[in-house]
Amino acid sequence: MTARTSDIEKAAGVLRDGGLVALPTETVYGLGANAEAPEAIARIFQAKGRPPSHPLIVHIGGAEQLDGWVQDVPLAARLLAEHFWPGPLTLVLRRGPRVPLEATGGLETVAVRVPDHPVALALLSAFGGGITAPSANRFGSVSPTTADHVRAELGDAVDFVLDGGPCAVGVESTIVDVTGKTPTILRPGGVTREDLEGVLGHPLAVPATSRVRVPGQHPSHYAPRARVVLVEPGRVLSEAALAQELGHKVGVLQPASFGEAPINAYAVVRVPDAPAAYARALYGFLRALDQQACDLIIASLPEEEGLGLAIANRLRRAAGPRPSETGSG
Ligand code: TXA
Ligand code: MG
Repeated sequence: MTARTSDIEKAAGVLRDGGLVALPTETVYGLGANAEAPEAIARIFQAKGRPPSHPLIVHIGGAEQLDGWVQDVPLAARLLAEHFWPGPLTLVLRRGPRVPLEATGGLETVAVRVPDHPVALALLSAFGGGITAPSANRFGSVSPTTADHVRAELGDAVDFVLDGGPCAVGVESTIVDVTGKTPTILRPGGVTREDLEGVLGHPLAVPATSRVRVPGQHPSHYAPRARVVLVEPGRVLSEAALAQELGHKVGVLQPASFGEAPINAYAVVRVPDAPAAYARALYGFLRALDQQACDLIIASLPEEEGLGLAIANRLRRAAGPRPSETGSG
């Protein structure tokens, strides 16, 4: 689906007026504001309920527009931008003069990317500036992959929702910090580690979930309302049966290749074996199980290679301790 030209113009006008526009990208929907307007940026944090110390991603229309947004672009960053932009890769670089500290949570680095979605690119071109946009969900919850998800979750907090259809990738961009001696993956996402290594010509470290130091990542993130429990693939159904006996309303993410689930026993989602299809559908599955009022979701981790790395990362974070359990509110 492509938004009409009049919608793009309207959205660009909203951005110029300091408003918030939800925009489709190839990964997830973003909640966009003029990246150079601190008051507009403040509205993003309000709408999301996100602490203002958590940095945002600045979206631009092409690698040739980097000047002003960042400084000191190392060779590795140029290589990665050339290969993967437009696309689901975010580069962390030194902050340029066009980026207010409000967008970076006070950091001297800034996250930038060029989204690979015709509607996002048309909006960037019509607006003519940078658009700072986190995922268009309430802080800590599951990212939206359709315009309806955005409307359901943020409602009137958004001035305009640009509908670009369902997101093709379905999980957020891969974040690579290129400010240090060697590039580091801060968040696995739509561009695989294998693809990054192929371009850079050397292996990349991925921090373990428990040690992720990306500001803005809490133990529980990307989480549905239902509690998420991860078990071995072969134990998903038996654990679900047990939990059901204990009175839980159980949702199950069952690998398609792992046999039939007893019909109607639980809310069962057969997850696709192909990682790209699983990634595309993951957040929709979690939302659907919430909608069926499940209080417990039992799932297993996919192989942590290719897009499976990002899927496993999101499932681990969804299963992490909830704010009420960590005392962080
Ligand atoms: O695919 C995506 O990346 C989506 C679409 C809308 O572009 N955006 C997205 O934004 O996922 P958000 O705000 O939900 O996640 C951005 C992540 C946060 O974890 C934040 O901490 C990290 O990027 N980040 C932003 N600036 C950073 C910086 N200067 N250094 C390290 N991490 C940064
Ligand atoms: Mg987010």
